[in-house]
Amino acid sequence: MGDLGCGTPAGFAALRGALEQAGYTEAAIAARSGFASIFDYRTKPPSHALPDPADALDVLIRLFLDSRPLPWETVRAHLPAEVFEGAGLLAGHPREESLCYAPVLLYPVAGLWIASDGAKSLVPGESGLRSDAVFPALSPQTRRFLACLPVTPCEDFLDLCSGTGVAALVAARDYAKRAWAADITPRAAMFADFNAQLNGLKNVGVVMGDLYGAVRGQTFDRIVAHPPYVPALERTHVFRDGGEDGEQITRGILGGVADHLRPGGRLYLVAAGTDRKSGSLETRVREMLGPRHADFDLCIAAQEAFNPVEYFFQMAVNGPEPIENVPKRKESFERLGVERLVLGAMLIERHRTESAPVTGRWQAGPVLQPSDLEWMLAQSRWSAGPADADLWELRPAPHRELKLRITNELREGRWVTAECRLEIRAEAVVRIKAPSWTGLFASAADGTRTVRTLFGALVEAKVLPEGGEAGYLDVVRQLVGSGVFSVPRG
Ligand SMILES: C[S@@+](CC[C@H](N)C(=O)[O-])C[C@H]1O[C@@H](n2cnc3c(N)ncnc32)[C@H](O)[C@@H]1O
Repeated sequence: MGDLGCGTPAGFAALRGALEQAGYTEAAIAARSGFASIFDYRTKPPSHALPDPADALDVLIRLFLDSRPLPWETVRAHLPAEVFEGAGLLAGHPREESLCYAPVLLYPVAGLWIASDGAKSLVPGESGLRSDAVFPALSPQTRRFLACLPVTPCEDFLDLCSGTGVAALVAARDYAKRAWAADITPRAAMFADFNAQLNGLKNVGVVMGDLYGAVRGQTFDRIVAHPPYVPALERTHVFRDGGEDGEQITRGILGGVADHLRPGGRLYLVAAGTDRKSGSLETRVREMLGPRHADFDLCIAAQEAFNPVEYFFQMAVNGPEPIENVPKRKESFERLGVERLVLGAMLIERHRTESAPVTGRWQAGPVLQPSDLEWMLAQSRWSAGPADADLWELRPAPHRELKLRITNELREGRWVTAECRLEIRAEAVVRIKAPSWTGLFASAADGTRTVRTLFGALVEAKVLPEGGEAGYLDVVRQLVGSGVFSVPRG
């Protein structure tokens, strides 16, 4: 494939015009294909039959999403084929003169048109995938990444490991004054630049280099990253392979945050990391932040966890890893003391003023939103907060989605509460086993009564918490800190 590009702004406008005229939007593709979302398009086989294309939208879907060659004649009947060919988006089929094919994918996502490589080579007759292939923004991983980025205004936004540049482009269009897309491969830079121009975005800088090497001396108020994180003994694909433990690029990102994130600025990172014998992921992430780690609060939202053998086995069954490599991989993780591989997101915020650093870890639901990360960070900060003396005056209320399960047992002819389990599945998934008095506490803790009044009610009902006042406050701290009960925030 040659370079992508339209030469002049007018060339890009012509291409954009053709896509607009064809109605090449997520909604139109969803309506025609029967999928709820464009992200489902390449992960599930198309449910629709593939009749001959009847209009420009069909032609675009066939060429740029289904990656099927079409006769030049059909393409010319519906589209300005020369505009697409001139941009490097169409090429003559190597064996069939009458046919053309698309050497890249091109699709609407997040209201933008994005070009990328596919999951395999799109050149007819070519197998394998080039090592610098540009990761499709249609992937479930990118969907997860985009879904957890906040859309609140910021000044300078950096998308590290940007691939197509999709996150930087969304930011530049919607909420950032200036956005940078930074990637190590020239090919990713070429795609990000093409995508920025195709979408007519002028406040995007496309830069190339090894992580912050591309933005030396610059600082940002928001940094986002979706780096490669698949553990790999050899680096064969730049978009995927994250070194022996999968954390190599993540370590570099975290290690540079102190030099590049402004006070009050935030880093959003979607990746996998490991819990090890030497420390949990969150304590290790703190170490990775380096000597200035105390300037930052951090919270991790774990979405999936795998034991290493299960993970490598799945990679061998579903992915590129030969099954005979599984023992070698297992050995390497054993040597590193890896106990669990955790897939999720993290939010790191730099303090504006000096304060004690906070570290939290949460179990996230399958769909993680920016407001969930905010909630987790706020809860983690609260847990590190109030002294016992202040706890007494708080007025806890149940989380709106709290489920309380009480197990009663018959003991010597009397029903007694043996166990209370509390659960929320909301901003985070939280499950707590609490003492038997929690049922009574919960029935009265409606936001109007103080922790002290609630204690009095337990004493009056002759339900004395184990450990007296101190034991009671410990449990209250856990109930509020975990989010199953909330208190007004000061
Ligand atoms: C998983 S892809 C993510 C692409 C894009 N952010 C997305 O979400 O669709 C990872 C990207 O990281 C880039 N990358 C890998 N190592 C890098 C490094 N050391 N510095 C900068 N970018 C790197 C790869 O080229 C690839 O584009």
